[in-house]
Amino acid sequence: MLQVGDEVMYFSVVFVAVMLVTRSATGASLLTAFLYVFMVMFRFPPVPADQAGRVLRPRAPPGGVPVVAHRGGSHDAPENTLAAIREAGRNGAAGVELDLSFTADGVPVLMHDETVDRTTNGSGPVSKLLFVQLRRLDAAARHRLKDKFSGEKVPTLQEAVEESIRHQLTIFFDVKGQPDKAAAVLHEMYQKFPVLYNSSIVSSFEPKVIYKMRQTDPSVVTALSHRPWRLSRFGDGTPRTLSTWGQLWTGVLDVLLDWAHHHILWKLCGISAILVQKDFISQDYVGFWAERGVEVVGWTVNTAVEKDFYQNQLKISYITDSLLEDCQPHL
Ligand SMILES: *[C@@H]1O[C@H](CO)[C@@H](O)[C@H](O)[C@H]1NC(C)=O
Ligand SMILES: *[C@@H]1O[C@H](CO)[C@@H](O)[C@H](O)[C@H]1NC(C)=O
Repeated sequence: MLQVGDEVMYFSVVFVAVMLVTRSATGASLLTAFLYVFMVMFRFPPVPADQAGRVLRPRAPPGGVPVVAHRGGSHDAPENTLAAIREAGRNGAAGVELDLSFTADGVPVLMHDETVDRTTNGSGPVSKLLFVQLRRLDAAARHRLKDKFSGEKVPTLQEAVEESIRHQLTIFFDVKGQPDKAAAVLHEMYQKFPVLYNSSIVSSFEPKVIYKMRQTDPSVVTALSHRPWRLSRFGDGTPRTLSTWGQLWTGVLDVLLDWAHHHILWKLCGISAILVQKDFISQDYVGFWAERGVEVVGWTVNTAVEKDFYQNQLKISYITDSLLEDCQPHL
């Protein structure tokens, strides 16, 4: 539950900030009132806590936390394939995180990158390939275990959903963009397989994707993904742009986005979880979100030491590339 004190504080900060900038008490009052009404009218209430609990805390092993296989477990099998989903189930994962993409003819498939180059023997953007062309590619071609998994195809969204349900795995649908298309095809999946309401969550870095999803189907459990400094820096910490002004500007945007995630967007979207880059999670941070009824899930947790920390100290769910051994992050 969000404490009333919290809200009073946010709106006071807005009021004072606007007042300082505009020097107008009337203007500041109007804008603050407008923001308040906007929030009340346009936010989506979160799904019931017991439903979110079924998705985020499925039968965890005794004394353990649910472990989610990143892209189906990209170290243990070729990422985003049916083989990966099967391996994850066999290796004791509670869930799989899968990436939604679309072919040129609009077929929803699993693919993380914009192009097929890194994972298959083909080349070019997914969005330029017809489904029949994509289907001819070898989805295991670039994997370290390609011999074991040869002949693996890029699966459709529905094939992946059916395989996950068959193995009783929770699904974390990761959606990069295209809010309208993504919400429509995911809604269709929820209609076809209602068990997904109790066993899957839709997540995105883009608040508009989550907002659109809740607008299309308010019963879907959702999460925002977050990595502080994502706009100004790559995952490994190097700046995205070399110009000083560019870095300064994207840095300012990062601060604003971080603030918005923690104080406005989560509430507007009515999320049940926040998926956060592992290095930014502490016990206090988990507590901050617990007070708001939101669960924290860490990514990508790939070493035994880190897994032990999540399991025994933080006691929260995490997303990993391997259920079996330590491995490098697959960025
Ligand atoms: C990729 O591999 C598959 C399966 O071995 C093969 O049929 C296909 O022709 C290959 N495609 C390219 C572009 O090399
Ligand atoms: C979700 O689980 C609850 C509790 O087991 C059940 O009552 C409900 O019907 C389930 N919903 C769907 C859509 O399967």
